[in-house]
Amino acid sequence: MERDDEIIARGYDQVADEYAALESAEAPWPRLKRVRAFAADLPHGSRILDVGCGNGLPATRELASRHEVTGVDISGEQVARARANVPAATFIRGDVREVDLPVGGFDAIVALYLIDNIAREDYPALFRSFRELLRPNGRLLLSAEPGEDPWQQYTWLGVAMFINTVPTEELVRLLQEAGLSVVSTEVETQLEGGRPIEYAWIIGERLRSPGSLR
Ligand SMILES: C[S@@+](CC[C@H](N)C(=O)[O-])C[C@H]1O[C@@H](n2cnc3c(N)ncnc32)[C@H](O)[C@@H]1O
Repeated sequence: MERDDEIIARGYDQVADEYAALESAEAPWPRLKRVRAFAADLPHGSRILDVGCGNGLPATRELASRHEVTGVDISGEQVARARANVPAATFIRGDVREVDLPVGGFDAIVALYLIDNIAREDYPALFRSFRELLRPNGRLLLSAEPGEDPWQQYTWLGVAMFINTVPTEELVRLLQEAGLSVVSTEVETQLEGGRPIEYAWIIGERLRSPGSLR
């Protein structure tokens, strides 16, 4: 039987155009505004990891205009587009749960609309890995659709796709349990192909462990 991750990768290969077309110029998503605000205080040349970076537009491109950015995405088509759209960044095709990245190697991580495509049962390990990849006081920006939809195969944009949604309070708790403090949580509605959808925008921070240099 085909694995969930293979179905997700193929789905994003197939709907690269349709997904990009969900955002209209008349009603831009809050993503760019949020990424700009998040990165505003970072010194020029900061190391940023963009997980589930998609085609790199507009977030990876914005971040790479001032910073050293690594993007990771499971879909070969999305990575190919990201490489063409953002030549200044480095891209890895891979599963964020498995890819080998430097411990403490990032000043910031962004995970924009990614975790709805990762099973809830994998969140504790994923969030621990985010903590490990961040330097002390490094920050995470994460967006996710709040809800209680179970992990299963749905039809999305005409293709098979694995999705789940989790209540925001549960995400906050899981991030805290993974060793990230939650700095802010805000909910904002965006239009996807004209349909309003709410997303939680969460900023987390890796605190320095008491008595530790790292
Ligand atoms: C909804 S799109 C978001 C893309 C982009 N971050 C944005 O702001 O539009 C989710 C992306 O996550 C990728 N993805 C899903 N599961 C993944 C995984 N386990 N590891 C890496 N990337 C994954 C998909 O291929 C897709 O490009």
